[in-house]
Amino acid sequence: MIGGMRILVTHSEPGAGLAWRRELAERLPDARIAIDAATPDGASEPAHAAGPGFEADWAVGWSPPADLFERQPRLRAFFSSGAGVDHLLRHPGLPPALPVVRLEDAGMATLMADYCLHALLHIAHRHDEYARRQAERRWHELAPIPREALPVGIVGMGVLGTRVAGAIARAGFPVRGFSRGPRRAEGVEGVETMHGAARWPDFLAATRVLVLLAPRTPETEDLIDAAALARLRPDGWVVNVARGALVVDADLIAALDSGRLAGAVLDVFREEPLPESHPFWHHPRIRITPHASAPTQVAVSAAQVAAKIAAMARGETPGGLVDRARGY
Ligand SMILES: NC(=O)c1ccc[n+]([C@@H]2O[C@H](COP(=O)([O-])OP(=O)(O)OC[C@H]3O[C@@H](n4cnc5c(N)ncnc54)[C@H](OP(=O)(O)O)[C@@H]3O)[C@@H](O)[C@H]2O)c1
Repeated sequence: MIGGMRILVTHSEPGAGLAWRRELAERLPDARIAIDAATPDGASEPAHAAGPGFEADWAVGWSPPADLFERQPRLRAFFSSGAGVDHLLRHPGLPPALPVVRLEDAGMATLMADYCLHALLHIAHRHDEYARRQAERRWHELAPIPREALPVGIVGMGVLGTRVAGAIARAGFPVRGFSRGPRRAEGVEGVETMHGAARWPDFLAATRVLVLLAPRTPETEDLIDAAALARLRPDGWVVNVARGALVVDADLIAALDSGRLAGAVLDVFREEPLPESHPFWHHPRIRITPHASAPTQVAVSAAQVAAKIAAMARGETPGGLVDRARGY
């Protein structure tokens, strides 16, 4: 039954809770939707905040407060307002059997494909080198790097990785994808896919631009260390749009300093916001964006979450249900 259901919005970022509440209310007009009083929007907008007796059926959000699950014992599922759930699965209060559901694409795939394609074109057209020359007021033309000399390897061929692979392949770059299990790059012509520990060294050795789009799990933490970086083709690049913990920061800097790697484009970091003292900020071969490659599109995402809630209320299994043992 959808009418009468209670939904709690719990978002650590000011403004996001209100936006989610508004968009969900448009799609589920009969539901009671309140913002967790312990979040910034719940505190600043008491009219929309959940009162002491508000026991929700469903919760949606990002970085819920430490005691949320204790305060909300009747929850039937938690919906992540992002594609990643690693932070949620590490929440000490998350009940072991509570279903966790993530966003699938919800407008992020196009943004992610744009970001990665932009990074590649930037590399191919030598824009980093032009930026360095501009700082020195040097007028000096460089030949673009031919696309066939920039084979791309995408780690993580899920919802986002597959879309990124398609966009990059259509732009003329050779693309390989690597996933945990066997997976065909459906609907993407000319993309070779590999999986499994035995193929990992071959995948890296065939890659010059490594694009990271796998979730943070115990298996992927520190995956990109000195040994992995050493296997990439010479003058390689790392584009990390997944999670900072996939890369060993010190090993990345060492590979850049030694000239083994040509550059890195980083959108995600072990600690966010990236601390002012972090060496990434000042490194001449690193470009940084503040976890901005594919921000959640609230209207599309709320429509998706509303549909998933309706499916679960009917007793169906929604898309994006997280496998808690696998970690994504
Ligand atoms: N920067 C941002 O703004 C932003 C925005 C959205 C998402 N993200 C990140 O992007 C990640 C991917 O999102 P998605 O929606 O594409 O997830 P997804 O559909 O679950 O796809 C995950 C992919 O990673 C693969 N994978 C998992 N563990 C692996 C391992 N140990 N080695 C190699 N591949 C592995 C999976 O392999 P199988 O195919 O075998 O399962 C799958 O292909 C999210 O988890 C999130 O961290 C970042």
